[in-house]
Amino acid sequence: MSLTFSVEPNPSPATEADREKVFANPGFGDFFSDHMVSIDWKGTYADGGEWSNARVSAYAPLSLDPASCVLHYGQEIFEGVKAYRHADGSIWTFRPQVNAQRLQRSARRLAMPELPEELFVESLKQLVSIDREWVPRGEGEAFYLRPFMISTEAYLGVRPAHEVKYLVIGSPVGNYFGTVAPVDIWLSTQYARAGVGGTGAAKCGGNYAASLIAQLEGEQHGCKQVIFKDPHRDDAIEELGGMNVFFVFGDENKLVTPELTGTILEGVTRQSIIQLAKDRGMTVEERKFTLDQWREGVASGAISEIFACGTAAVISPVGALKSADGVIAAPGDGAAGEVTLSLRQELVGIQTGAVEDRHGWLTRLV
Ligand code: COI
Repeated sequence: MSLTFSVEPNPSPATEADREKVFANPGFGDFFSDHMVSIDWKGTYADGGEWSNARVSAYAPLSLDPASCVLHYGQEIFEGVKAYRHADGSIWTFRPQVNAQRLQRSARRLAMPELPEELFVESLKQLVSIDREWVPRGEGEAFYLRPFMISTEAYLGVRPAHEVKYLVIGSPVGNYFGTVAPVDIWLSTQYARAGVGGTGAAKCGGNYAASLIAQLEGEQHGCKQVIFKDPHRDDAIEELGGMNVFFVFGDENKLVTPELTGTILEGVTRQSIIQLAKDRGMTVEERKFTLDQWREGVASGAISEIFACGTAAVISPVGALKSADGVIAAPGDGAAGEVTLSLRQELVGIQTGAVEDRHGWLTRLV
């Protein structure tokens, strides 16, 4: 399906000096480019409805009816995608089709319309082509694209909305944690982010809202991220607030990551790491991995490294695990591990054009 996008350029875009100030310290998600993309949908979940009014316009606050369903019942889903500047000036993104498909799965779970894959990719191209100067040039930096969908119908009955808006905004970003040194994480023993039959596998705002109280608890203990476990499955490790997790068994040339049970998000970075590790001849196990196995693996030295991964976090080393029940020390010597760093280098190399894209994962945006 294709739609023609109307383009109304921002009458007062940022100057080069404004952008340079942002690029000096982009942080993560603090600054936004000059434009946004939006597409409207009207219809019913059953009839499929219709997409229309595709627009590129100045980045600006939205005007929403106070009765909009999203404000009351949380019908909202989103994605995270990055655009990378290559050495020749061209701009590329990584596996956008996989994000488009995940947005469709999230939409089905939240009873929202499924945006066609071509429109998803086209929406990224539209934003990046008008805001190409916002794609940073620094090492480890990228233009983070945030496609999202909200229910805009003004209606207070509880049912799937008949009006929805899809939008894309963009933000130049650096390192999510501000460092590639290992970060300690907090294990939530009291709170869950998702439950069986819930929305854990969908990328919806509600899952992140549910993680915040545990994240606050973690921050009080010096941890930037929180990890969740399932007390009904022998304390099986699930995922961090916004990232998947991998355990490196160095002597066995093996990676272990929690299996997808329906309560875990199927990360695009997670999927790509599994492929890259298999390409290297590593064994990759997607399976139940319990808190006891974590403790024993670190104590015996079998677990040599741990890392978190996601579009935002890329691949970030994990240090100690802290919780109300005690601490599991960082694996190895506590520094970022060799496997973690080399997988990170390979993945970022593919994304930025420095390493051959042998799986055809890149799509040119501009
Ligand atoms: C991403 O990695 O793109 C995410 O969506 C995680 C995030 C909530 C920062």
